Amino acid sequence: MVCNDAEFRQNAHMSSHLIPDANIATKVAVTRDALRRPLHDLRISVLDQCNFRCPYCMPEDEFHEDFQFLSRKQRLTYSEILKIAHVAAGLGVSKLRLTGGEPLLDKNLPELIRGLATIPGIEDLALTTNGMLLGSAAQALADAGLHRVTISLDSLDEAVFRHMSGGRGNLGKVLEGIDAAKQAGLTPIKINVVVQRGVNDHSVLELLEHFRGTGHIVRLIEFMDVGNRNGWRLDQVVPSRQLLDHVQARWPLRRIDQSYPGEVAHRYEYVDGQGEIGFISSVTEPFCGDCSRARLSADGVLYTCLFANQGTDLRESLRNDADEEELTDILSQIWLQRADRYSELRRPAVAEAHVLRKVEMYRIGG
Ligand SMILES: C[S@@+](CC[C@H](N)C(=O)[O-])C[C@H]1O[C@@H](n2cnc3c(N)ncnc32)[C@H](O)[C@@H]1O
Ligand code: SF4
Repeated sequence: MVCNDAEFRQNAHMSSHLIPDANIATKVAVTRDALRRPLHDLRISVLDQCNFRCPYCMPEDEFHEDFQFLSRKQRLTYSEILKIAHVAAGLGVSKLRLTGGEPLLDKNLPELIRGLATIPGIEDLALTTNGMLLGSAAQALADAGLHRVTISLDSLDEAVFRHMSGGRGNLGKVLEGIDAAKQAGLTPIKINVVVQRGVNDHSVLELLEHFRGTGHIVRLIEFMDVGNRNGWRLDQVVPSRQLLDHVQARWPLRRIDQSYPGEVAHRYEYVDGQGEIGFISSVTEPFCGDCSRARLSADGVLYTCLFANQGTDLRESLRNDADEEELTDILSQIWLQRADRYSELRRPAVAEAHVLRKVEMYRIGG
């Protein structure tokens, strides 16, 4: 349902979940979920394939050459993605992130970005990539209207990096990609580091040292129990608290404010002025409280939680010619009913109940 201002006010009056937000264009109704969290952020996975096999995400023995990835027909087309993004913007989404799998395997991505960049209400358009193909793509992405990139890079130690990319990454190329992104103005650049005990935790300080003073923001991420195929074990999680102490012992840090409500990283800056780092602590310090993210898989399933065990198929509605009004209704109903807070509820019983059914990270892109 798309409503005019008067209808909107009446609806807002009838539903305590629909509240106007002065910062957003008049016809945008900010939809709030059952825990009163707004929908601000949509992550769009453009394809499920990847050129890496990071063991914590797509381990090679599970994602082997016979693995059945989505076919082109199964994936949403650009016009279908644009339709959903448009409807989401009408419900309050102002931030879009393209992800995967590896989004840069899609050579036509600038075309999609051009469409997304012109959607009214979209203030932040970002992309998450492993960086391998970024060197030659960065300028075209920026020219198409992409604002910034997040690059995943787990270690600067060649052997560790190679292991953590499943034997497929080339460290030099990823570093070239980061430079190209900077040249193209895709800033601020964030560098995502998944920290696994006994795998790359010993190389974290070296990586931080490399990026200190560059303006790039390194974010240290706890190894998460997303999906069911990555062999997650609690003893491989390095709690952010421990990492923070480890970093502080070398470079004093001070806490800084969130840049927006619902931000996933706890932000710190180096006391000596050499920049910012973040800690993402989904395992030890769950952050469901103000989570405002929805995730769209490449085959058009909308998930309302990173740890969801089911989502809503939007592709069928799209292919049955649902118009914008019907899609708005579907999306707002999904969000109004949303009550997920898996991270906060994480207890053995809950983890067990989810264990066979969680959506995989490569499908929804983090
Ligand atoms: C699924 S990837 C998709 C985009 C792109 N392929 C990349 O690696 O940046 C998105 C993010 O999820 C992170 N990730 C994947 N599996 C994870 C896990 N088990 N725990 C924490 N982060 C994970 C990756 O490191 C990456 O930063
Ligand atoms: S984390 Fe990104 S690069 Fe690594 S396997 Fe998953 S999708 Fe690919």
